[in-house]
Amino acid sequence: MKFFLDSANLDEIKEIASTGLLDGITTNPSLVSQQGEQKGFHELVKEICEIVQGPVSAEVLSTEYKKMVKEAEVLAKIHKHIVVKMPMTEDGIRATKHVSDKGINVNLTLVFSSSQALLAAKAGAAYVSPFVGRLDDVSTSGMQLIEEIVQIYENYDFRTEVLVASIRHPMHIAESALLGADVATMPYKIFKQLYNHPLSDIGLERFLADWGKK
Ligand code: E4P
Repeated sequence: MKFFLDSANLDEIKEIASTGLLDGITTNPSLVSQQGEQKGFHELVKEICEIVQGPVSAEVLSTEYKKMVKEAEVLAKIHKHIVVKMPMTEDGIRATKHVSDKGINVNLTLVFSSSQALLAAKAGAAYVSPFVGRLDDVSTSGMQLIEEIVQIYENYDFRTEVLVASIRHPMHIAESALLGADVATMPYKIFKQLYNHPLSDIGLERFLADWGKK
């Protein structure tokens, strides 16, 4: 399973990249705007691409087909690591099909149903991003959706990778891995939580205390 960081914060990205466990980055307009105005969007994603040796998702802001295509072409030229994020709309699917056919990698975002995921795969998206946490928030199982998408893609040998997004806790990652999802994109805090288990801490403390007694 590939680990992506869901962040536009350069300090977080540098720290997690230094572990050697980071495979890519996802950003979205909310995450980029949280970084303030110091850097322009394109400058920021270019810098991220230079830190991370893997795909970096950058989202289009237009909502109309022709403008989305144009924006995608501009974003894709920033760096070879760029994956263009398109929102799940009719225009987004059309634009995904158009630019994917031309060799631009697309991450189809804001996916909340298996029929939307089917459209993403038919349009040739490189990644589909189902938002599990936001589904859980409205009393609908995010993990059930992952199971359905993994099964559908397997049934038809679709090459679109299932990128589990809107992750809220480490169980979302473990369950996605059990279901065979390709990628988990997680906030910095969740990445750090993956290391933790109280019994690991207690066990180490006991080993070191026993060693100290000899
Ligand atoms: C994924 O690409 C999205 O940026 C992200 O996972 C959304 O997560 P949220 O629901 O916590 O905002």
